[in-house]
Amino acid sequence: MDHEVEKRAAGYKAASLIRDGMIVGLGTGSTAAYFIEALVQRIRQGLHIRAVASSRASAELARKGNIHVVDLNDVPKVDITVDGADEIDPLKRMIKGGGGAHVREKILAYASRELIVIVDETKCVSSLGKANLPVEILFFGSPSARFHLEERGYTGQWRTASDGSLFITENGNLLFDLHFDHPIKDPKEEHLKILQVPGVVDTGLFFDIAGRVIVGLADGSTKLL
Ligand code: 5RP
Repeated sequence: MDHEVEKRAAGYKAASLIRDGMIVGLGTGSTAAYFIEALVQRIRQGLHIRAVASSRASAELARKGNIHVVDLNDVPKVDITVDGADEIDPLKRMIKGGGGAHVREKILAYASRELIVIVDETKCVSSLGKANLPVEILFFGSPSARFHLEERGYTGQWRTASDGSLFITENGNLLFDLHFDHPIKDPKEEHLKILQVPGVVDTGLFFDIAGRVIVGLADGSTKLL
């Protein structure tokens, strides 16, 4: 368990911004789990909301705490989604998908009036690229997709589950985790280059979508970017 104080502080601060009647998007990961924990506490104190989850794990956590979870297809718009990130740069560009949920997280973020990002300070970087960049790929023809990525100069490996088998996303696809031996100079250009390979569903690069960023600090306080 790493940076739990910071993650908790960010999650709890984000939960304090949620108002009665909102439809709230739930991100995925250990920081988002603190947000859900704090929301559950607020619901016990009388807050009424509905939530849309980006993963089964987050939906389960929410339901356990009596949060009313609804389907994204059944709501017109999500008011606020709160989610973590693996890396975020000064332009609020991000790498996400450490938890393997970035495709649903991106759809949920785009269906929301605001995406609030909650991170500990280690996630704030001057440029993206130290973290692996997850690319979700259809199983059909996946060796060919890998070949075409490698031909374009990318290196990486298929993500595996804890038992060594291939990791399968909730969309039934594979994840190819790219690693960069240098900072990513132009994330948008890389994203578009990767998307050109048939079979690629999406990358874990996010742009022009993060609203407020809440950074949890070691003393349990937060700062807002
Ligand atoms: C899951 C994600 C997470 O938000 C990201 O991996 C950060 O996770 P954590 O809060 O556990 O560090 O994108 O797909």
